[in-house]
This record gives sequence, structure tokens and C-alpha cells, in this order.
Amino acid sequence: MAAASDIREYLQQHEDKPLLRFITCGSVDDGKSTLIGRLLHDTQLLLDDQLAALEKDSLRHGTQNGEIDFALLVDGLAAEREQGITIDVAYRFFSTEKRKFIVADCPGHEQYTRNMATGASTADLAVVLVDARRGLLTQTRRHSYIVSLLGIRHVVLAVNKMDLVGYDPAVFEAIVGGYAELAKALGIATVQSIPLSALKGENLLAPSAAMPWYTGPSLLQALESADIATLDTVSPMRLPVQWVNRPNQDFRGFAGTLATGTVAPGDDVVVLPSGRRTQVMRIVTADGDLPRAVAGQAITLTLADEVDVSRGDVIAAAGDPPQVADQFAAHLLWMDAQALLPGRPYWLKIGARTVTAQITDIKHKVDVNTQAELAARHLDLNEVGYCNLSLDQAIAFEPYTNSRTLGGFILIDRQTNATVAAGTLDFALRRAANIHWQHLDVDKVARARIKGQRPRVLWFTGLSGAGKSTIANLVDKRLHAQGFHTFILDGDNVRHGLNRDLGFTDEDRVENIRRVAEVAKLMSDAGLIVLVSFISPFRAERRMARDLFAPGEFLEVYVDTSLEEAERRDLKGLYAKARAGQIRNFTGIDSPYEPPEHAELVLDTLHETPEALAGLVMARVLAD
Ligand code: ADX
Repeated sequence: MAAASDIREYLQQHEDKPLLRFITCGSVDDGKSTLIGRLLHDTQLLLDDQLAALEKDSLRHGTQNGEIDFALLVDGLAAEREQGITIDVAYRFFSTEKRKFIVADCPGHEQYTRNMATGASTADLAVVLVDARRGLLTQTRRHSYIVSLLGIRHVVLAVNKMDLVGYDPAVFEAIVGGYAELAKALGIATVQSIPLSALKGENLLAPSAAMPWYTGPSLLQALESADIATLDTVSPMRLPVQWVNRPNQDFRGFAGTLATGTVAPGDDVVVLPSGRRTQVMRIVTADGDLPRAVAGQAITLTLADEVDVSRGDVIAAAGDPPQVADQFAAHLLWMDAQALLPGRPYWLKIGARTVTAQITDIKHKVDVNTQAELAARHLDLNEVGYCNLSLDQAIAFEPYTNSRTLGGFILIDRQTNATVAAGTLDFALRRAANIHWQHLDVDKVARARIKGQRPRVLWFTGLSGAGKSTIANLVDKRLHAQGFHTFILDGDNVRHGLNRDLGFTDEDRVENIRRVAEVAKLMSDAGLIVLVSFISPFRAERRMARDLFAPGEFLEVYVDTSLEEAERRDLKGLYAKARAGQIRNFTGIDSPYEPPEHAELVLDTLHETPEALAGLVMARVLAD
């Protein structure tokens, strides 16, 4: 396999074979690498490296047949790239007379969940590896849980290292019995259990002579005969729009891969979430128009009417469209070292659509070892939670059990752009659907006009003792004296009333700021100039607050003091207590403060007096 032409030959040869995608779970100790290594070696096709090296080459010079199939082979990777996940998953390819295979090999320990979720999200089957000497471990349960969460319905339980237990059928049977219970609890549809020795090659390719008591298939035979998820052409038609193809004024096509169903010109369709109805005019492909397309095909549709369709919309069968909603119950697999905090905004990417989402509630987290439901206020790395989710826009969706494409999503951190969670939508929360916006005749503009001012939010952030409240008070006094209508929201005060149920953990601070930002929003709708004086230590929440307001309306004022100076002043004696260990999670001591990167105003309290700094704020407010 040295030249590109060989690869193309190979691909052409294997093009018509069905493809099985599977994932292997288990640790190195269970013999995972040996198993995969032998499988690849013994099928005589150690192809992955060569394929990777020749990927570009093959696409550039490839024959048509080779190209199409090549894309098919690597689309697991493409999907991953598209989702923006950087992950350590090696996809390996091999084939036999009957089938070709892609195995997602997910290494890693700490990040295992993340890797596994990625591999599992496109797999038809999971090989769960168990060491015969050790039996079912916590890890086996954890992996099986993720397998079931991500919708893999077929498991091959590979009981490995049978040679080390003298090929004893009783050992095998005990493990099989234990796993049957787990599979039942998790709703895994079929389990094929195989005793084997990867090292010795027993029951790997051919039936083993060492275990005459076992009459089932070898691992390879099981892989060759397992059900392959067939593309769903029976369900109603759904086309998530990947991009809008508009080469010139006369052509507007909507391109994507048909997720489910079939489509033909003349079909009635609805564009979601807008709800506009129209008909399919043409199904355009590079090789000419099609009379009909089925699930799995990449197509471009043109529509009978000039309706507005953008990337991320879903074109669906008008007679049986998916639901549209903006609040959901969903499972989340948290994959970031920084915990999930309810109330914090994240990007949510589902299909080709990206929206802003907040976890409004963690119903419970799941102990993946026992499936027990535990109370939780945040989710840590590798934890699974059942949550309520609220989006800033409605989306068309399907429950994940119906459609991986329209029900699976990832969450992305808005500051770092890292993928922090994978999730599966369960159902839409009805309560949200029945609450509408009440139209108000006296609007914000009218309320501001009668006060003769422009509503503003002056958001003071900084360490405790930096001087936020002092300066905000001075500004408030001066604005008031000049006839402006103002109000101050001060952390210490609001925490005595509205937010008296909140403490100083990260999740409580997020909620503290979420609430006060909403209150500030209401006050600005009332036409007021609002001065907010909260430590507000996290960038994410200050940004959330900013995003509630029109450009120019929100001014972030960073009251900048060194920790040493704040501690030296220590007006409330809190730093001394924090240092003495009497107060926990104190900002600057054992809880972080993230200074603003783009504050409208930075007030240097080390070199200026509060009066002078209040003057700076006044000048800025009065300037426009
Ligand atoms: S924030 O971090 O959630 O924005 P907020 O501004 O509401 O904090 O409250 C900060 C005030 O609470 C401080 O000025 C201080 O007086 C008091 N406080 C009590 N405990 C803490 C703590 N652990 N960390 C910070 N401030 C505390």
C-alpha cells in the first residue's frame, strides 16, 4: 500500500460492501490495544496510517468512485471537525470479504468520557471489553451507560483473557449474567457475549478450539453479522440546512444531508422554525436533477416560493413536521475541567444551528455506576446530569431517540470556544410554549422620554473593598442632583432581599448576577439610569448582562484595585476573616476574580480619589 492508486483500487473494490461503525470500550489493561491490533493485523489491512497520509492526495487526484467512498470512510472525522471538537480518537479502517469497518479507538483516562462520547455518537455498535479475571468493573458500567445514552443499541461483550482463567466456562457465564442485568437496566437492545483471548487469537477471527463449550460466533463473525443501523427512510422527511447556495440572482438552493425520509419535487414542505410553507421545486445534484432523494443523500433543494431559509433551519414534511421549542429536558455529559454552572450562557450547537443556551435547572446527576439519581448544583468533569435547558431562540428538533441529527447537541464555552458538553434532547418543556410576550403600549422609549434621559446601565465590577459602592454612590448623587432618574443595585443590599437565598459558591454567584442583570433590564425598560455595584467576578456573567442591552446602553466600569490595597483597607474586616479561614470562597483569596478585558471605563483607585473617579464616570455618561 504505498501509492495513491492502490488506495483507490482498494476503495473501489470495497465500495459496495456495507459499513459497520463501532467503538471499543475498556482500558488498556483489559487488552484493548491488543484486541484492535490483532483484528487489524489479522485482517491483513493495516490501512489507517496510509489512508490518513494519502487523504489529500486521493481527494486531489482521486477517481470519482474512489473519492466518494473515501469521503464515506472519513466522514466520522469530518463530523467531529464540524462539531468543533478536538479529540483524541483514532479511527481505524479494515475490511473483510463481507463488510468494511470503522473502529473508533478512544484512548485516554481523564478525558475518556469526552473521547468516548465522540466515538460513540456515530457508532452502530460497541464492543465492551472485560478482563475475565476482574469481571465487571465500575468502568464497565460507566462506559455502558455512555453507550446507551448515546443511542448505541447493540453491544458485544468481549470477555477477554480467557486463557488466564483456564478457559473456564463458569467464569464466562458469571460475567455474562452480571452484564445481562446491567444491559436491561440501561435499555441496551442486544448483547452478544463472546469469550476470547485477544493475545492468543482465540475466538477473534475463527471459532476457538480451546473453548469447545462455546458455540457462538467469533468476534469478527459477530461484527460481520451485527445489525447495521439502516438509514431511516420511513420517518417523515427532515433536511437540516447546512448552507444556502446562492451562486447568482436566479438560483437559491438549500443544501444538506437528508436526515430522515424521502423527498420528491412537488412535496409540501415547511421551513422551521419560521413555519413558512411551500413546495419542493427541484432536487439538484452535481450529476443533474433527481426525481427523488432518500435519507443519507447530500442534496440541494430549490423551493417554489421565495421563502426565507438560513443555515441551521430545518426543511420538513409539511404534513408531519418536527416540534419547535426553546426549552427542553436533556441529558448532559459534562466534559470540561471547569464545572457546569446553571444560569451561565453557553453556545449550543445542534445540527447546523448555533444558539445561546442556559441550564436553568439540574434535575439530578446520575451516578453512572449505579444509575442512582443524586441531587446536584453543578456538574464536574465526566459527570452526567439530567437538566432543563433554555435557549434564546426556538429550534426544530426531535428527541435524540428518534434522531441523532436533530436531537444531539454540544455546548461550547463562549470565552474559550472549547467544547464543554455533549447532550441529548429528551422532550420540550410545555410550560414555556404557553407563555407569550404581553404587548405594552407605554414602551421603554416613552418612559425614557418623559424622564428626559437615555436609559443606561453603569455596571461597576471589582474586588470587595475596591470602592465600587463608594464611587457608584457619588455618581448617583451627582446624577440625581442634575435631575436624572436613577437607581442603585448594590450587592450587599440585594443580598439581603431578592438574593438572600444565595451564598458565594460559583453557582450562587452566577445566579446572583443573572438575577440582578434581569432586574437592571427591567429598570432600564422603566427608563432609569441603573447603577449596578456587584463584585461580579466572572467574565461570562458580565457578558451575559451586557448581552441583555442594546449597544452603547451598557457601560462596564472596572473599579481597579490591587488585592494588597483592598486587603490593606479591609473596611469590613472580611479579608482578615477570609485569611483566618473563617469565610470561605472569598473573592481574591480562594475564589477567582476575572478582570474585564474590554471595560468601557477603568478606574484606577490607587492613584485617584473617589471624587475624581466619579467625575470620570459623569463625563462619560454626559458625553452622549
Ligand atoms: S458577587 O461575587 O456575587 O458579585 P456581591 O457583590 O453580590 O458578590 O457581594 C459581595 C459582598 O458580599 C462583598 O462586598 C462582601 O461585603 C460580602 N461578602 C461576604 N462573603 C463574601 C465572599 N465569600 N466573597 C466576596 N464577598 C463576600
